[in-house]
Amino acid sequence: MKKIIITGALGQIGSELTLKMRELYGKDNVVATDIRQPEDSAVVTEGIFELLDVTDGVRMRELVEQYQVDTFIHLAALLSAVAEAKPLLAWNLNMGGLMHALEVSREYGLKFFTPSSIGAFGPQTPKDQTPQVTVQRPTTMYGVTKVSGELLGDYYFQKFGVDTRSVRFPGLISHETLPGGGTTDYAVDIYYEALKHNTYTSFIDKGTYMDMMYMPDAVDLIIQLMEAPGDQLINRNAYNVSAMSIAPEDVERAIQKHLPDFKLTYAVDPVRQRIAESWPNAIDTLAARQEWGFKPKYDLDQMTADMLTQLKKKGLPAFV
Ligand code: SER
Repeated sequence: MKKIIITGALGQIGSELTLKMRELYGKDNVVATDIRQPEDSAVVTEGIFELLDVTDGVRMRELVEQYQVDTFIHLAALLSAVAEAKPLLAWNLNMGGLMHALEVSREYGLKFFTPSSIGAFGPQTPKDQTPQVTVQRPTTMYGVTKVSGELLGDYYFQKFGVDTRSVRFPGLISHETLPGGGTTDYAVDIYYEALKHNTYTSFIDKGTYMDMMYMPDAVDLIIQLMEAPGDQLINRNAYNVSAMSIAPEDVERAIQKHLPDFKLTYAVDPVRQRIAESWPNAIDTLAARQEWGFKPKYDLDQMTADMLTQLKKKGLPAFV
């Protein structure tokens, strides 16, 4: 990876991955792109930034050509709850953007990464220790685009030799950029609300287990997977990755270790609850560990301590 282009660079993953990659590979070797250009973001002001709507394949090709990139990190996509509300937009953006990115990677021989998700699984998938290779019949539009993306990863690798790499991300928890319209977002919101109001009303019900991961681990694993020797990678569609399997009451208990009076209540959103219930409780990450050494650093308690510290640094009011 010598010259990297990133789409969706202002999103939840992109805003942290872009800064880390600039640090590692050099400011002039990372081309951040997004559909908007806010002037108060380090992604825009502290390095190369270009406007790009990923459904515009011509502009995408121009940027790849102009900057002579050798690696494509494609992050621009709609998340699960928004995609349920806007299925046509979700298909056009998630699949249209991905096809342009894969085509340009084929044409220019680029190394390629795009995330899949636990959303690529469905109600018929085994819920616990979900295997790397298993039933993938999602019941959401988001999941349909993610399974299609995984199939395309395999197809472009086998048919054209594009060096495709991917992971099935669980819910990602971060303190920099809020996720936009995901089912796992409660596990991010809860920390902000804990510090602001010492209480949180969860839209996901008690006892609903989903896989999660802290963003520093997510950023590190993308870099680790992209740097891994290609001949070690058997799975070209996407690897199962996770750092913890948790339900809302687990986060409640972890927060109470810092804010003893914190209270969690529930007002379940039926749309997101149904999505959550269609996803696994806990996926098996053996293939990722064996094939490229995946090893997350943060468990729930370590993540909680760091989230609260980082958010307090940002000036959120605390009750301690
Ligand atoms: N965090 C995502 C979502 O909830 C899952 O990939 O949509």
